Amino acid sequence: SIKIAVIGGGSSYTPELVEGLLAEAETLPVKEIWLVDIPEGDRKLQIMAALTKRMVEKSGKDIRIVATLDRRAAIQDASYVITQIRVGQLAMRRHDEYISIKHGVIGQETTGAGGFMKALRTIPVILSICKDIEELAPDAWLLNFTNPAGIVTEAVLKHSTVKVVGLCNNPINYYKRFAKTYDVTVDDVRINFIGINHLIWITDLYVKGQSHLNDILTGKSSTYEAANIPDFGWDLGFLQSLGAIPCGYHKYYYQTDTILEQQQLELERNETRADQVKKVEQELFELYQNPSLNEKPKALEQRGGAYYSEAAVQLIRDIHLNAQRVHTVNVRNNGAISCLPNDVCVEVNCVVENHQITPLQIKEPPPQIRGLLQVVKAYEELTVEAAVTGNEGIALQALTLHPLIPSAEKAKEILADMLAVNEPYLNWK
Ligand code: G6P
Ligand code: MN
Ligand code: MN
Repeated sequence: SIKIAVIGGGSSYTPELVEGLLAEAETLPVKEIWLVDIPEGDRKLQIMAALTKRMVEKSGKDIRIVATLDRRAAIQDASYVITQIRVGQLAMRRHDEYISIKHGVIGQETTGAGGFMKALRTIPVILSICKDIEELAPDAWLLNFTNPAGIVTEAVLKHSTVKVVGLCNNPINYYKRFAKTYDVTVDDVRINFIGINHLIWITDLYVKGQSHLNDILTGKSSTYEAANIPDFGWDLGFLQSLGAIPCGYHKYYYQTDTILEQQQLELERNETRADQVKKVEQELFELYQNPSLNEKPKALEQRGGAYYSEAAVQLIRDIHLNAQRVHTVNVRNNGAISCLPNDVCVEVNCVVENHQITPLQIKEPPPQIRGLLQVVKAYEELTVEAAVTGNEGIALQALTLHPLIPSAEKAKEILADMLAVNEPYLNWK
């Protein structure tokens, strides 16, 4: 039987995960779900524990929910550990966004300077969780949702022996969207992806074996956008010359000026995404506390991570059943994308087989994809290195290299402001 440990169990996303695990309960013998949080998150944790217990009760399934602040007890002998933490909570996300926008650059949770700072705060915590897993559950799989998921997963791949896979809801939501558009099942859809987390391109899209890429490139049908991404649409001429479908996060690179203008207005009104999410969270936790609620509420769809649990639950199921199915997840490159180093983390189609997750070889991308991919990946490699060494020079090189940061001078200013407010989370000289 299976024990699952959810680190960051007090997250407002947890009902999503429990719903997914209950839905698979026939094929996946989950016996215990341990929800772990830190003392600051205890109030949310208790609310989540009560709600998820009501969900289990309603389902009639025999699953034990345990809420605890004892991370080691939760990890002990777990088969799967799920990390969905936000180090510094929304208050620090708000700083990431505000500092960036005030300096005239994109302020975003995972992309650009915001994602960079989030990585520096988060990687030490994730690596300490990995120490516990190495000791207490060395055979467990770590499913990492913690953002920036690609960078955080790369840190684990490079600096621990834990079996890790990074997840994002974006790929699965493309399958769901295209299945809906073409009125077929998800199994009838095949998607060729190339890229890294929050920077993936769809290079082809097949429905029942037929390519439908051009439907999207010519605007005949639309692509998927997460709830948290600004919706300015795509210029069709641009899409056609790109020859691939960009993901929502590409807008920060391809539509920088338009988005920055919007973000500057949001900042003036104190309504950046962190502020919006804070309100949604308050609303959600009020709903969650209602003792008659025993399912995931519709309001959770306002969050960008909606349906993330499907990715997690299906992956756990396929690892457990050795299902030999394809999942689009974050793993060690191992040559799948030949223009990137072997030891970096990429988000690509992988086969889940014999308790291994193996990336499938991808054909060389054209220069317009390769160029951006290589630069952002190099920025990510430097960010991981900065996080583990605490070396400010490497941090400065990372930020300066990022395409959304215009100069070394700007990078230095942003870095100084960010390091100042993040001091409690860092152990730098
Ligand atoms: C997307 C991403 C997630 C991210 C979320 C942000 O779905 O894939 O990685 O956490 O959006 O949503 P939020 O509601 O927090 O802005
Ligand atoms: Mn994601
Ligand atoms: Mn730059």
